[in-house]
Amino acid sequence: MMEHNPIWREGVRLAKLPRLEDSIDVDVCVVGGGITGLTAALLAASDGRRVVLLEADGLGSGTTGATSAHVSAVPDIGYRAVLRQCGPEAGSEYVARCASALELMDSLVRAERISCSWDRVAAYWYSEDAHGVGRLKDEASAADRLGQECRMVREVPLPWPTAGGLAIPRQAIFHPLRYLQGLARIARARGAQIFEASPVLSWDEDDRGVVVRTACAEVRAAELILATHTPLGVNLVQAELAAVHSYILTLALPKPLPAALFWDTDEPYHYVRPLLDGAQPLALVGGADHKTGCETDPQSRYAALSEFARRRLPEATITGWWSAQFYEPADGMPYIGRSPLTEHVYIATGFAGVGLVQGTMAAMDLVAQLRGEGRDTPWRPSRVTLAAAPRVISEGVAVAMHWLGDRLSATDGTSAEALPAGQGRILRLDGQRCAGYRDDDGRLHVLSPACTHLGCLVRWNGSARTWDCPCHGSRYAPTGEVLEGPALSALARRESSQAEPYSGMPSATPAPDAQRLDTVKG
Ligand code: FES
Repeated sequence: MMEHNPIWREGVRLAKLPRLEDSIDVDVCVVGGGITGLTAALLAASDGRRVVLLEADGLGSGTTGATSAHVSAVPDIGYRAVLRQCGPEAGSEYVARCASALELMDSLVRAERISCSWDRVAAYWYSEDAHGVGRLKDEASAADRLGQECRMVREVPLPWPTAGGLAIPRQAIFHPLRYLQGLARIARARGAQIFEASPVLSWDEDDRGVVVRTACAEVRAAELILATHTPLGVNLVQAELAAVHSYILTLALPKPLPAALFWDTDEPYHYVRPLLDGAQPLALVGGADHKTGCETDPQSRYAALSEFARRRLPEATITGWWSAQFYEPADGMPYIGRSPLTEHVYIATGFAGVGLVQGTMAAMDLVAQLRGEGRDTPWRPSRVTLAAAPRVISEGVAVAMHWLGDRLSATDGTSAEALPAGQGRILRLDGQRCAGYRDDDGRLHVLSPACTHLGCLVRWNGSARTWDCPCHGSRYAPTGEVLEGPALSALARRESSQAEPYSGMPSATPAPDAQRLDTVKG
């Protein structure tokens, strides 16, 4: 079952921007056209800096455009963990910085008249059992110590029974692509130059700043902001980050859900929000997260999510489904600031499930650092904490196991002849292990399965039709082009006697019709 495009792409045509064709000299080069990069470009341009933004594909083509658009300033790890990790003083500052990022979004929408269905709504962190409510009471008292306004409620405004929840006021919902469209408009009006279809192939630092190279031109910049989720290329923080995949269903409902954000206390949690700006009431239900590349049957995740929805919203009809990737940091805190071992390179990553607000906060922090206003914070990239150590080691071991274990393991057990159109598999061809993909016209594409970042072996994601790397989350198109970093170059093509025109197998792509909930069983 092939994934759909995120619902945000329906009916939204972002203006195409040019590719970088000529070399250029600027103060700040921002890489990445999601919420972090566009906000950083806008703020740096507002300071009077000469700014260029390079986007590999199109604005919003990454995680910002595939989010469920929960605009939540609530830390993904919860208030207790923030208190434990940072202490009351730095923890309060962190919570306040997240809140001020949300307020910046609010003020931009209002002052610049960004038409993006922006609505300030309450958030409900809820539980369906008494044990979860006890945990939420602990969260409420930690939130109180951190200065976060919230209250425990018995009634959560959902149409199914709950045991209670923690209500947090003044969060938001919006249309993320329309918001990005607004950011790009303002940034360009303030002098920022934005280029699409301009993937960065490499960058180097010297005593004058950085040189960033694309296929056609170079950018010479005093400072580089890598707003690419995980930093492009090899970076120390990648040892402390886990790439995580999350799944989202669009549901058509007979009656609208209340205008609010909801997520539960399950691990991983489920999240629910309404979409209220069309004639048909819709809701997004997400969750079923797992580490990227570690699920051989993504359909089972959609099946679990559809079962969750069917039990709670039995009248709903599934009309769409897609997945997105984000990064979870080892100690739960993001990495925002100067990249380790560099002078002019800044990174912003590890936002977990709350990247819209944390990406905005990262942009604010990084541009403040460019002004020389930076301070030592618990979210600086160069930190090493004892709390993070066990997970750092565990992530490192997991990567090593993938690197070694995948090389020792067998192929996917499919022959090239049996590979259906629209699918990929790890095959053995001409005595070599290969990543084989048969396109809809029957042609077999043969690639090296070695990720070009650090050499782990990629795996086929049959739902998204991508090659995913389990080590640091690089993702590649079926024919090998980089879709998401940290990899900078495509999977190598391999010659094979079997890479030839082919016909006869049916396409695995179903018609994207609306389906009843109980048909999404994989
Ligand atoms: Fe690091 Fe693939 S993303 S080895």
